[in-house]
Amino acid sequence: MQNGIIENYRTLREELQAEGVVFRSDTDTEVIPRLLSRELARFHAGGSAPSGGLLLQALQAVLPRLHGAYAFAVVWAELPGALVVARKAAPLLIGLGEGEFLCASDTPALAGFTRTILPLEDGEVALLTPLGIELYDAAGDRVQRTPSLLSGTEHVADKRSFRHFMLKEIHEQPETAALWVARHLPEAELGAAPHAGLLVALPLDESVYEGVERIQILACGTSRHVAQVGAYLLEQLAGIPTSVFYASEFRYAPPPLSPNTLTIEVTQSGETADTLAALAMEQERRRAVADPAYAPRLLGITNRPESSLGRLVDQIFDIGAGIEVGVAATKTFLGQLLAFYGLALAFAERRAGGATGHGPEQLRQLAAGLRALPQQLRDLVDDHDRRCEQLGHLFADTQDVMFLGRGINYPIALEGALKLKEISYIHAEGYPAGEMKHGPIALLDARVPVVSIAVPGTVFDKVLSNAQEAKARDAQLIGVAPECADAELFDTLLPVPVVDELLSPLLTVIPMQLLSYHIAAHRGLDVDQPRNLAKSVTVE
Ligand code: AGP
Repeated sequence: MQNGIIENYRTLREELQAEGVVFRSDTDTEVIPRLLSRELARFHAGGSAPSGGLLLQALQAVLPRLHGAYAFAVVWAELPGALVVARKAAPLLIGLGEGEFLCASDTPALAGFTRTILPLEDGEVALLTPLGIELYDAAGDRVQRTPSLLSGTEHVADKRSFRHFMLKEIHEQPETAALWVARHLPEAELGAAPHAGLLVALPLDESVYEGVERIQILACGTSRHVAQVGAYLLEQLAGIPTSVFYASEFRYAPPPLSPNTLTIEVTQSGETADTLAALAMEQERRRAVADPAYAPRLLGITNRPESSLGRLVDQIFDIGAGIEVGVAATKTFLGQLLAFYGLALAFAERRAGGATGHGPEQLRQLAAGLRALPQQLRDLVDDHDRRCEQLGHLFADTQDVMFLGRGINYPIALEGALKLKEISYIHAEGYPAGEMKHGPIALLDARVPVVSIAVPGTVFDKVLSNAQEAKARDAQLIGVAPECADAELFDTLLPVPVVDELLSPLLTVIPMQLLSYHIAAHRGLDVDQPRNLAKSVTVE
């Protein structure tokens, strides 16, 4: 079993073939057992009997030959009952079960079997036998580490009465929000240090906020959409210039270094290879600068504080959403989004609104709006589950869907399109509504449904007139908007309550998730395990 890519496998393969080794597959993985066999044969020729120590020694001799990223487990026919595991730049966890050890690349795979885990650090190897675990670092020295306990695994193996984990996880979002409010947004202003007089209590050291002039956020996929909403909030609420990057692009073309910059990594799994590599690169180039203003300041937002991310950053914001099994992120999206609401409020409070004009009263109103969120989500999820189920069949032959949004809801349009692509395999695009006339409007006709997010606020009228333009091209219009006279424009309305525009993404994302879910479920697709996708993308 191997996760990752052995980049120099062709060279190794040719080397072994030149020695007469015959390969049974074209995979990069096969070079690993072949190299191990060669090492073991050498030891055997030297008269050594099969033992765990021998297998470990062979593994330690092979690892320096492997370039790339890997996490793998090895069994040896001569030594049943022993297993060696190794990792480099790919995650590997050992689960300690009842009378058994388990190995996995991510925690959801272990949930249901055990809550006790031992995550391997980069470069470590371990020998697992009925006697226990022997752990060694990259230098071959024995390491002692206490296993940790997983949180939030209680219901994970149980879909309850839901047809899919994704649907269950969508329905868990009101609870995610309620927990967040209880933890971070208590009813009364905070009385005790270090949060005295503040609205929001976050599990972060005060140094996170001090002297920050810029923020850069690194993320992939859905987490990047969260980051885009986060950047909007940090700029508009706290007045801090914030840039969002695809981690996969940032790692090869980072912008010039700026001083006093907080770098935030957003990754629900904490194991996304591109995000971790971008983070490592950023850390390294900042450490190389003597001026302390350029020193790395790293904050991770994740659902898995025990992940590789948790071990790399200075401070971690655990979103505490509980394990998410569905490959398509839903409740972790909401959890990460809420983390940014907390962060933006916390910065804004410390800057007294700064240049944005959001004074204490407006911040208090936003906090009150967030406290109302769990109940609003409860109503919305139940209502839209029914509505979207009835819409599923309308998309039986659909090949393309356009999602439109503007301002703070533009990332939600992107997220709607990504969710639909991931689980229904329907081509979808998320677009800023005002950009349609610059090209994509040419795609529209009666066969292309348009989902338009239109909530009262700075761009409401603009979005409605963009939707009108789509309707003039015969597109079927689905509106995610409040029930009001303007909404008569839409062929179908997925109504959302009127809230402060800044809070609206927390609600408008719900119909996006449920629409995608019901379209995919209606098509009979494997919603929880869509083709070609993994919950943690641990390779580049
Ligand atoms: C989400 O539905 C996707 N499966 C995917 O885009 C995901 O968000 C991306 O791979 C990043 O994952 P992460 O949050 O674990 O880093």
